[in-house]
Amino acid sequence: MGLVECHAHILPFVDDGVRTKEQCLQVLDAYAGAGFSHVVTTVHLYNPQVTTRTENIRPMHEWAKEEAKKRSIELLLGSETYVGGTLDPRVLPFMDNFVLLEVDTQTEPLFLLHHAYGLLKRGYSVILAHIERYRWFDPDSNLVNKLREMGVYFQCNVEGVEKGEANRYLEIGLVDIIAGDNHGDPAQPARLAALLETHGTIRRRMENLFRV
Ligand SMILES: [Fe+2]
Repeated sequence: MGLVECHAHILPFVDDGVRTKEQCLQVLDAYAGAGFSHVVTTVHLYNPQVTTRTENIRPMHEWAKEEAKKRSIELLLGSETYVGGTLDPRVLPFMDNFVLLEVDTQTEPLFLLHHAYGLLKRGYSVILAHIERYRWFDPDSNLVNKLREMGVYFQCNVEGVEKGEANRYLEIGLVDIIAGDNHGDPAQPARLAALLETHGTIRRRMENLFRV
C-alpha cells in the first residue's frame, strides 16, 4: 500500500499549478519515487485569485492519468472548491465522495457551515483545506466545533507543518490529513512522505479514511 496525496495542482494549463507538461511529469516522477500510489489533482474552482481554464481540466487529466499509470500511480481528479457566497458551488468529488473546500484566509467564512452541511447531506465527506492558513480558525470557536461535530475533516499543508504553523492543531489532535498543496515542486513529495513517517497517527488516519 502506498501513500496518498490528496491536494495537488499538477495539471498543466489549468490553474496556478504546474505550467508545463514536463513539469507535471517531473512531479509525477517525484511522487512515484517517494512511494505514493494515489495522487489527487485538485483543480481550483471559484478561487477569486486564480484563473481556472475549466475546458482544459478533462483533457489534461486524461493525459496525466495515463502518464501517472506508467509510474504505478493512480491520478484522481478532484477540485479545491472555494466557498465564498451563498451560491451552491460545483465540486469534483474524488474516491467516490471526498470534496476539498477552501475559504477566505482573512475573514470568518459566513457560508461555510451552510455549504458543508449541504454537501454532507448529499453524502459527501468534506475536507477543509490548509486550516493553518486561516486567520479566523480557532479550535475553541463555535464554528470550528460545529464543523468538527458535523464530521468535517481538517487538512494541513506540508509547508504549514514544516514551519510550525500547524503545531497548535497537531498538538490537540485536530489534524486529519497532511497534504502537499503542491503547485509544481518536485522536491515536495519526499517532504510529505517524511512528515507522514513522523506523524504516524495521521498517516494511519489517512489510510483508514481513504482505504487504499
Ligand atoms: Fe490548493
